[in-house]
Amino acid sequence: MTTQAVKIEWMKAPARPGQAARPKSAVAQELAEILASGIPDRATLRRILATTDADELEVIRSAAEQTLLQHCGDTVRLRGLIEFSNRCVLDCYYCGIRRSNKAVERYALELDEIVETAQWCGQKGYGSIVLQSGERRDAKFTKLVTDAIRAIKTETRTPELPDGVGITLCLGEQSAETYREWYDAGAHRYLLRMESSSPSLFAALHPPEQSHAARVACLRSLKELGYQVGTGVMIGLPGQTLDDLVDDVLFFQELGVDMIGMGPYIPHEQAVLPGNPAVLDADTRLQLALKMIAATRLLLRDVNIAATTALQALSETGREQGLRFGANVIMPQVTPPRVRRMYTLYDGKPCLDDNAEQCATCLEGRINSVGRRILKNNWGDSAHFLNRNMA
Ligand code: 5AD
Repeated sequence: MTTQAVKIEWMKAPARPGQAARPKSAVAQELAEILASGIPDRATLRRILATTDADELEVIRSAAEQTLLQHCGDTVRLRGLIEFSNRCVLDCYYCGIRRSNKAVERYALELDEIVETAQWCGQKGYGSIVLQSGERRDAKFTKLVTDAIRAIKTETRTPELPDGVGITLCLGEQSAETYREWYDAGAHRYLLRMESSSPSLFAALHPPEQSHAARVACLRSLKELGYQVGTGVMIGLPGQTLDDLVDDVLFFQELGVDMIGMGPYIPHEQAVLPGNPAVLDADTRLQLALKMIAATRLLLRDVNIAATTALQALSETGREQGLRFGANVIMPQVTPPRVRRMYTLYDGKPCLDDNAEQCATCLEGRINSVGRRILKNNWGDSAHFLNRNMA
């Protein structure tokens, strides 16, 4: 439980069978009809993001949940998150492990420990892992990742998973050659967040050597190489408007991505981007993040959407709420606890002291508590990717 945990009245469970549901307001009823009539347009997306009315929020949540169940089923797909190094050559203004933060102790796991952690995930039936780290582009780093991918693919084979666990990479901007090398080694999904689809907001979040255009080019190159591609944004950034967020969701659509990982912006004490009172309060940011999940689900329908850890940093039940608003992926923390604290991108990161075993037990209960079940021993690929490759 974090000190920022919030009580959210509008998240009350729906009425039980036999218990009469409270009648919806006329405006909420009208919104329900709009959402039932087809894919939301720009005006509807904006309305989804703008409302704070409890009846309308429940209409949005329920429509997103129905869309998810219809296009992706009721399973939650797990990716064990291995944060294998916090060494980083970039200096993103919002991030706790940015290059200039001298207060962070730096670490890098050895190949063996990375592979053992992935094996543990395979044995637990997680089906997939994510390799995440600070950004580096040197040859030693590229090789470590290639070796790790190869070893994980062979060492995690089981009768249930004859091709080993699925591997998602979250390693930032790289050359097309590096992306190809990692794909050929066996990684098949790549997550590269835009952080914001607005070029001006992107520029305000990053030093001049990083560019919006370069990131878009990376996403296109990943897609061309055959990866399942994911992107995402931070929600509730200083200076971000509702229209920026609408543009983000439409940008996901334009890019044709298969996966989305997005969450609330959470200030970090040693980062340069301002914290309170420059940002919306925690409750509002959480609500906005949940509405973004629902809006994305309603627009894109068959993509995988993660209920990210940042949601849980704002509320004890943040990730479950993410699932209820249309998310279908969870990334349980499996980074060895002794280094976990050193991978602090934002303040209030949850699960710092739990071991992977505790995280696994806690998670299954949380997923079942919202009426969903874990998809075990399966890569849990994006239905959008499978559909676009069948077409
Ligand atoms: N608040 C929320 N998310 C953050 N990230 C980095 N710093 C923060 C922060 N302060 C997210 C970025 C990045 C991902 C790995 O973590 O979106 O892409």
